[in-house]
Amino acid sequence: MSLPLMERVTKHFSAGRREYAALRAVSFDIAAGEFVAVWGLRRSGRTTLLRVAAGIEQPDEGVVLFDGRSVAEHRGARLGSEIAYFSTHFPAAHGGTVSDHVAVPLIARCGHRQRARARAEAMLRRVEALECARREPRELDPSELVRVGLARALMTEPRLLLLDEPINGVDLMQREPILALIRSLGDEGVAVLMTVGDVVTEADRVLTISDGELRGDVVPADAPVVPLRAPRAESA
Ligand SMILES: Nc1ncnc2c1ncn2[C@@H]1O[C@H](COP(=O)(O)OP(=O)(O)OP(=O)(O)O)[C@@H](O)[C@H]1O
Ligand SMILES: [Mg+2]
Repeated sequence: MSLPLMERVTKHFSAGRREYAALRAVSFDIAAGEFVAVWGLRRSGRTTLLRVAAGIEQPDEGVVLFDGRSVAEHRGARLGSEIAYFSTHFPAAHGGTVSDHVAVPLIARCGHRQRARARAEAMLRRVEALECARREPRELDPSELVRVGLARALMTEPRLLLLDEPINGVDLMQREPILALIRSLGDEGVAVLMTVGDVVTEADRVLTISDGELRGDVVPADAPVVPLRAPRAESA
């Protein structure tokens, strides 16, 4: 079943006396197990869309829904459990192995270190990165960082996974297996919303965003012909 994630969401930012509309009346839905890519030019609003979907940023207008209920009403409660926001940032100051870092979201939620460590190893195996478990995050190459970031994001069994340009910086040859891995999460019922700098054929649908406006919700093959507009500096 398809659930609306956003209904007419608008988000403004100000920079000095200027005001930017980073999202303009954005509406779309996503179903369990669906893989949806968000594609657009630089500064088109992709990251803002993910951050608003996660409940990290609040919309100025419109609603963000999860299971038909407003994300704002559960501020923080969904994120880090049913909603996961992927990151490849592992604070060096905290030290520890890859396995320790992957375990963090579950330790934060249940406090049970042993259980979290066991699941961290299982998730590293799931993303085919178990050989990274005893290394330090700074020793990982870009494709390993993505796999480890995915393992950490999957720790809390999210139903919605938000990925901001995960394959940026990954060698072309290593992108395909990572996209296949992300696609396979759908078989476990995880809905994936992923921003990209280029159209990905592995996705079920591609949302094209242009200057904060959704201008297409199509199958990947049709995405390159959706018209784009260069970002405007100021809102009307
Ligand atoms: N926290 C913020 N404060 C002020 N302006 C912001 C903020 N976040 C985003 N913006 C502005 O909103 C617009 C959309 O930015 P956003 O980061 O969502 O786009 P993007 O498509 O992810 O771009 P990028 O190519 O940088 O990844 C840009 O004009 C950006 O400068
Ligand atoms: Mg971005």
